[in-house]
Amino acid sequence: MSLDGKNIILGISGSIAAYKSAVLARLLIKSGARVRTVFTPDAQAFITPLTISALTGDAVYHDISDQGQWNNHVELGLWADLMIIAPATANTLGKMANGICDNMLLATYLSAKCPVYVAPAMDLDMWKHPSTRRNLSLLANDGVRQIPVGYGLLASGLVGDGRMAEPDEIIQFLLKALEGKQVLQGKKVLITAGPTQEAIDPVRFISNHSSGKMGVAVAEAAEGAGAEVHLVHGPLQIPIPSGIHTYPVKSAAEMLEKMQNLNAQLKPGILIFTAAVADYRVSKVSDQKIKKETTESLNLALELNPDIALTMGEFKQNGALHVIFALESENGAENARKKLKRKNADMVVLNMTGSDDAGFGVDTNKVSLIFKDDRSDDYPVMSKKEVAQHIISAIASLLDKNNH
Ligand code: PMT
Repeated sequence: MSLDGKNIILGISGSIAAYKSAVLARLLIKSGARVRTVFTPDAQAFITPLTISALTGDAVYHDISDQGQWNNHVELGLWADLMIIAPATANTLGKMANGICDNMLLATYLSAKCPVYVAPAMDLDMWKHPSTRRNLSLLANDGVRQIPVGYGLLASGLVGDGRMAEPDEIIQFLLKALEGKQVLQGKKVLITAGPTQEAIDPVRFISNHSSGKMGVAVAEAAEGAGAEVHLVHGPLQIPIPSGIHTYPVKSAAEMLEKMQNLNAQLKPGILIFTAAVADYRVSKVSDQKIKKETTESLNLALELNPDIALTMGEFKQNGALHVIFALESENGAENARKKLKRKNADMVVLNMTGSDDAGFGVDTNKVSLIFKDDRSDDYPVMSKKEVAQHIISAIASLLDKNNH
């Protein structure tokens, strides 16, 4: 698949990164596309319409009406096979997310029936701001595809996330998307999910409140991204969608054994540890049901369970990528970073206990993704399915970086 013969709308909003749009326009034309460009009013302060029209040889629109003539944004929207807004500022993203239509670019976006991509560009604090996260989440729900931002020196002089992707990265992203290549195609993913149950006697056990919703959402997202997914899970409160290979277990010891066997057999490139594994088990499990008549009080001696993520992190095979979760009640980021290091993982998904819309049982979660190089991305409360999509995108970016 190529961009040859494709009709592309290039949207440019007012950011210093607009200087890269000229190179992007040039590359789109070189790839054989026909490019019409729409500016927001502020974009013209950063790059001139003349530069872009000279490069594309086609129309540049900046107003809904021009010299008494109406620019037909509906026709333009319908003409396009693809729309890419690069740079997409926090302002433009916010307006897109909320259906605001006060310029030609936004009117065209609302009229477009084709796939729409955004390449955000902004300063790191704006990038991390909850309102930006919320707007991007709304846009993702509307089907707008986001080209990941880069990390580096920003116009403010600060260093961090928020740089617009480079023009050649944007072209590669569009080509992959048009090919319909899924980000985890050809990858094997091994996942743990749910709680474990540690027997006290034949009828009682120690466990926790994990429902399995987070783990199943991750498995589903990985499968949707083209991966072959193997899910080792404790007793779950929800069904598992078809297409996922499942391995039910009860205890932590069983979960570890199954994970090690599958790891040796399948050699997965990605391991994701979402399970809430019971940290302790009963040292001496009673063969018979413990009778309450025989004892006034009952003391159970507990011993430490194996740590599955830690054990498997010690023997990572073929450079596999390990993603762990951290469920914390205090000092979340600090504890999560310690776990990331101790368990030799590549990324940790931090979620906190203590609120009604995150953690155990509920359909939503609020997470931060923390990486080995100390980068972190904080997300607002969103559905566990959406969280899972972000986790899979982050894994895909890590794989790209590592050239897996
Ligand atoms: O199942 P839900 O109801 O949807 O809830 C989701 C969740 C809260 C269980 C999930 O989002 C989550 O946080 N899972 C990890 C819970 C946990 O055990 O966190 P931890 O910080 O104690 O463990 C750190 C990491 O080590 C985790 O990846 C865990 O799977 C792993 N671990 C921990 C202990 C152990 N013995 N073996 C492990 O593999």
